Amino acid sequence: MELHSTYPGLPDLRAAARKRIPKFVFEYLDSGTGLETTTSSNARRLQDIKFMPSILHGTQTPDLTTKLLGHSYARPFGIAPVGMSGLIWPDAERLLAAEAAKANIPYCLSTVASQTPEHVAPVLGDGAWFQLYPPKDERILKDITRRAKDAGFEALALTVDVPVASRRERQTRSGLTQPPRLSPRILWQIAQRPTWALATAKNGAPRMRLLDDYIDDNRNLPPTEHIGYLLRTSPDLDYLRQVRAAWDGPLILKGVMDANQVKTLHNEGVDALWVSNHAGRQFDGAPASIDVLPEIRAATKLPLIFDSGIGGGLDILRALALGADFVMLGRAWHYALGALGANGPAHLTDVLHKDILANLGQIGVEHLEDLPQRLVPR
Ligand SMILES: Cc1cc2nc3c(=O)[nH]c(=O)nc-3n(C[C@H](O)[C@H](O)[C@H](O)COP(=O)(O)O)c2cc1C
Repeated sequence: MELHSTYPGLPDLRAAARKRIPKFVFEYLDSGTGLETTTSSNARRLQDIKFMPSILHGTQTPDLTTKLLGHSYARPFGIAPVGMSGLIWPDAERLLAAEAAKANIPYCLSTVASQTPEHVAPVLGDGAWFQLYPPKDERILKDITRRAKDAGFEALALTVDVPVASRRERQTRSGLTQPPRLSPRILWQIAQRPTWALATAKNGAPRMRLLDDYIDDNRNLPPTEHIGYLLRTSPDLDYLRQVRAAWDGPLILKGVMDANQVKTLHNEGVDALWVSNHAGRQFDGAPASIDVLPEIRAATKLPLIFDSGIGGGLDILRALALGADFVMLGRAWHYALGALGANGPAHLTDVLHKDILANLGQIGVEHLEDLPQRLVPR
């Protein structure tokens, strides 16, 4: 209860994280690309969606259980992949995976996380996903997917909205370089955040540990480059077929925004689409993710996962009402970690859960599938 009085919502967690983690880390987590108009419109356009409040509907007992890709989750939301999670808070990947197991929600580990699938495996619950940035080398693709499967990840999410690196100017302005260098400016930022600095020193410098394992195979790579981009390619349809062949579980395509492409993806044997503009971190000219969701919903019966700009339980309900089957959050979990360390993820689960229940009570809906009936036409 104590945590709820100090951190009742996401803005409180974000503000506290800003004070507890070094500036360059916060800017890495928080920034979009360009003028960040896509990042801000993601949130704003969600807020434009209204439900008609309901009265005289009596006592209701909503059930948040949501089925997706053969798993029954306790809640309709989960944890999106975030590269270098462990830079934001030491051992973030394990803390998040453990919370997901406890709360029965999906955790998606990034290819460029700071921990390997094997490190996370002991705390992984059922229904976890592994996110794949497409390795150029087919041997690496096969090895990574095998390792993810052996570690217990049940679905693979292939991210296709990063054909090239983005610029993320605010992150650059903070002094963060690729690869990160301990310049005097960065050291000064670290010195101002002693709790983070001590915890990080104890845990070892965060690195992309999964990709590190493949650098030996690529000795001719220049040592100064971002290994994430050295190993990956910009995928095409043939590549998608290669991934489909390499993975015999559910395959999710992450970063779908164009309803015109949905039919092709269906024909290629993709099991679910993840509607996302990567929180506006890649392309500042993209529409808000929520604005393309209804058209994509109309174009396919495939399960739809949604993210980008979710700011609380009400936004989760908004995305569900507009056609999403499931909603993921990326930055929110890391604001929670930055603010509260190991206690952050469970607190955020509770905040989102309570927020969903409070809003469902106002909307007068017991079953999530009835949400569209209470939408105010736009
Ligand atoms: C710091 C950061 C790193 C991210 N790294 C990845 C990644 O490695 N792979 C990926 O598919 N998406 C990545 N994303 C995108 C998220 O998975 C997700 O699409 C996005 O954060 C959702 O928007 P939200 O943060 O507003 O909830 C990253 C996002 C952030 C904020």
